Amino acid sequence: MNFNEWTRAVLARTEAALEARLPSAEVEPGRLHDAMRYTTLGGGKRVRPLLVHAAGLLTGATPEALDAAGAAIEMIHVYSLVHDDMPAMDDDSMRRGKPTVHVQYDEATALLVGDALQSQAFITLSDAPVPAARKAALLRELAYASGSLGMAGGQAIDLASVGIALDRPSLEKMHRMKTGALLRAAVFMGALCGDEAPESLDAAAGVAAQTRAQAGGAAVAEAIDAATLAAALERYSAAVGLAFQVVDDILDVTADSATLGKTAGKDEKDNKPTYVSLLGLDEARKLAKQLQADAHAALAPFGDRAERLAQLADLVVERAN
Ligand code: IPE
Ligand code: IPE
Ligand code: MG
Ligand code: MG
Ligand code: MG
Repeated sequence: MNFNEWTRAVLARTEAALEARLPSAEVEPGRLHDAMRYTTLGGGKRVRPLLVHAAGLLTGATPEALDAAGAAIEMIHVYSLVHDDMPAMDDDSMRRGKPTVHVQYDEATALLVGDALQSQAFITLSDAPVPAARKAALLRELAYASGSLGMAGGQAIDLASVGIALDRPSLEKMHRMKTGALLRAAVFMGALCGDEAPESLDAAAGVAAQTRAQAGGAAVAEAIDAATLAAALERYSAAVGLAFQVVDDILDVTADSATLGKTAGKDEKDNKPTYVSLLGLDEARKLAKQLQADAHAALAPFGDRAERLAQLADLVVERAN
């Protein structure tokens, strides 16, 4: 299967998984369920579910477990977009080529769509076909990445930074939180879905050091593998997570609204600090290329098993060309 065929297959699985896990518009309250389906189904690049499925290939995860994890993280992402577009935030009227939820329905419905998608994400993940111990780690990853130390916190910094020329470390922190955190979670959740992953990837590096100090033979080899996995995924997802928002900043300047499916030129109009406003277009493009190379370098320990993750890093960065 080539990359395009694989991508198409994951997108079809993701659409079916979302469709099956969103309440029907026939179920009361019908207008809320209709709005949840309107904004979630049939659009978007599905980069997070693609990362979930690609990372799952490293640890032998089943497609069914990855479908659940991918659908859950996509629901959180869509919730973040619905709220991001509301008048109190970026005040956007177009998303994924259609009117935004508060325009198509109303503001109260948009708020509730976000709230309800967030709950539906955790319901979806708690029903995932993975062992109980794994489930706790998955739920924690997603909750942490969505909250005030991840996406929601990054959005708060974004809103507080309008009209402010952030320095580079502050801009990087904002981007890593508002966008990078969920992309990192996609990678870690995909890996956590497989039997060959340690139960907590975050703890893996620490455990490996302890085990090395205490034990010998096979235990050491296994623990080193866990630590290698965790460190490589950390490096890969940090690079792709930041690259993704750098590219989003670039496209806001270089692409048109029809191509993006959302209003172009919005960042400058709203006085948002971005990588383009800080570095200029050429330097922002160079940074995205560097991050792409770093993502590739991070995957070296995995060989062929990481081919899809490598191709996804290319997909993310080459959109800016
Ligand atoms: C847009 O995300 C918002 C950011 C985090 C930059 P995507 O570019 O993934 O949007 P969709 O899902 O394809 O619509
Ligand atoms: C959005 O960043 C990040 C989240 C939704 C968490 P942007 O505000 O740049 O996203 P777009 O450009 O509206 O998609
Ligand atoms: Mg925003
Ligand atoms: Mg926005
Ligand atoms: Mg943007």
